[in-house]
Amino acid sequence: MSSALRIALIGTGRIGKVHAANIASCADTELVVVADPMAESAEDVVQRFGGRATEDALAALDRDLVDAVVVASPTPTHIELIGACIDRGIPVLSEKPIDLDMGRVEALRSRVERAVSAVAIGFNQRFDPAIAEVHRRVVAGEIGGIEQLAITSRDPGPPPAAYIAISGGIFRDMTIHDFDLARFFVGEIEEVTAVGSCLFDAGAREHDDFDTVAVTLKARTGAIVTITNSRHSSFGYDQRIEAFGSEGLLSVENVPASHVNVSNATHSGARGPVIEQFLERYANAYARELDAFVALVRKGESSSPTFNDGWAAQVVAEAAHQSARSGRTVRTDEVI
Ligand SMILES: NC(=O)c1ccc[n+]([C@@H]2O[C@H](COP(=O)([O-])OP(=O)(O)OC[C@H]3O[C@@H](n4cnc5c(N)ncnc54)[C@H](O)[C@@H]3O)[C@@H](O)[C@H]2O)c1
Repeated sequence: MSSALRIALIGTGRIGKVHAANIASCADTELVVVADPMAESAEDVVQRFGGRATEDALAALDRDLVDAVVVASPTPTHIELIGACIDRGIPVLSEKPIDLDMGRVEALRSRVERAVSAVAIGFNQRFDPAIAEVHRRVVAGEIGGIEQLAITSRDPGPPPAAYIAISGGIFRDMTIHDFDLARFFVGEIEEVTAVGSCLFDAGAREHDDFDTVAVTLKARTGAIVTITNSRHSSFGYDQRIEAFGSEGLLSVENVPASHVNVSNATHSGARGPVIEQFLERYANAYARELDAFVALVRKGESSSPTFNDGWAAQVVAEAAHQSARSGRTVRTDEVI
């Protein structure tokens, strides 16, 4: 292995460019190959962050030339690319979700269990410094046993209808991050009760999806998690979390775009709106996610979410999908 970890990046869209920038700026990684069928996009990333461009993702997975792979291509490509990395013994960090089809995820699971190389899944929110601190302090016992967890996640605005059409629905696409955070804090989930409405987004209505949902989860420990999601928020990207325990409460508030307050005839100490975009809100988290993956590849031990974490969050998403459509509580073991 060369001194810096040689990384192949697959996919150079929104999230691929974030990974490219982080790989280029991390002292312990080097971007050596960039694969995207959109040659212009791959070339642009190579110009800015290094490596060589190819249109063929599988050809980029050469064990002699790369030490690790980051998969940031569309969801339907993840299963094949993770499988190809396992076959070649190359560690891989794949974006979430693993796949929209639970059967395909299950089929890959046994191969991952037998794999000699690591598979990590990109649940970046675990690496947000504030969320990670709350988790550390919960684990340290600062608020006693965790009894309730409240997660609020509202996007600034709905995605295009074409995106909704292939997203797999709001629970598999958006709430999946919250399902992972729920497991991160309270462990395995046993019961899922979800409700959804379509109040404002024509794209969601067109594709029989929800734009407004609430989910209640019951963990094996008995802890209760409440998740509130909306596809829009008039005041920016609304990302809050509150952990309540027998000895206290730890919470993360929204991040303001500016730390300057204004007082005038109509406001007292008022702040401007919160950060608008997820790429900006979680910029630190994506960088720390890469650091954790490097530690996994280098030392074999790390805080990276595993394939099993990706699978388990998806089981909860399936249960939520079924619950919202059937109007009943769905146990996760029914889905498995
Ligand atoms: N963790 C997060 O916060 C987060 C945020 C956004 C997206 N994602 C996930 O990342 C993935 C990509 O999302 P995006 O928003 O960047 O999509 P995008 O459409 O912006 O970019 C995808 C890129 O992959 C390329 N591509 C398509 N097929 C390919 C293939 N076979 N091999 C290589 N490249 C290929 C496309 O040409 C495009 O450039 C999705 O699975 C999505 O769920 C995760």
